[in-house]
Amino acid sequence: MEHKGFTIWFTGLSGAGKTTLAREVEKRLRARGMKVEVLDGDVVRQNLSKGLGFSKEDRDTNIRRIGFVCKLLTRNNVVAIAAAISPYRDIRDEVRREIGNFVEVYVDCPLEVLVERDVKGLYKKALAGEITNFTGVNDPYEPPLNPEVVVHSDRESVEESVEKIMRKLKELDYLPPAPEDVYSEEEAEVVEERLRSLGYI
Ligand code: ADX
Repeated sequence: MEHKGFTIWFTGLSGAGKTTLAREVEKRLRARGMKVEVLDGDVVRQNLSKGLGFSKEDRDTNIRRIGFVCKLLTRNNVVAIAAAISPYRDIRDEVRREIGNFVEVYVDCPLEVLVERDVKGLYKKALAGEITNFTGVNDPYEPPLNPEVVVHSDRESVEESVEKIMRKLKELDYLPPAPEDVYSEEEAEVVEERLRSLGYI
């Protein structure tokens, strides 16, 4: 079914859960027959942004490239999902303006929890001074001021966070109706009543 294009932009610290949520939302949207493409920071840095580092300038370049691809996809009625730290508010707002149909999801998680989990072992290195500009430790992260969705990955399950995101997409009218939302309960009752009175059921 033809649907509108839009961009879901995940932002948050490394290890907060951006990729996991992006992949889950991707599945949910594909299940509705929508066309979806995920741009994940770690993946993009191996191809489109290969060679870029973590200075403000390089991060801005990385985010502008991801934003540019999201814009092309969005205007072709594809759902683009970006999952990069994107630590700087001004560049996120810039890509928001460029893209238009933009849903910012802030994946919030306290630093202590991320340091505790440390899935990639990078926080340990950053705290030991082995990585000089690691986001949240010795490099800035500017949380969004007015994101469309905030999820708290330390106290919500993946399922709960995904539900929050899906609810917002529905509210913003970005979702084509799923088979179960074609009729509301009241409408279903009316239809059933009519079919019964006509002797069909
Ligand atoms: S962004 O700042 O340009 O948006 P991006 O999401 O693409 O970052 O890449 C972040 C990933 O790169 C992290 O999840 C981590 O695995 C790795 N990384 C390596 N060095 C750093 C660093 N100095 N700061 C943050 N992440 C880093």
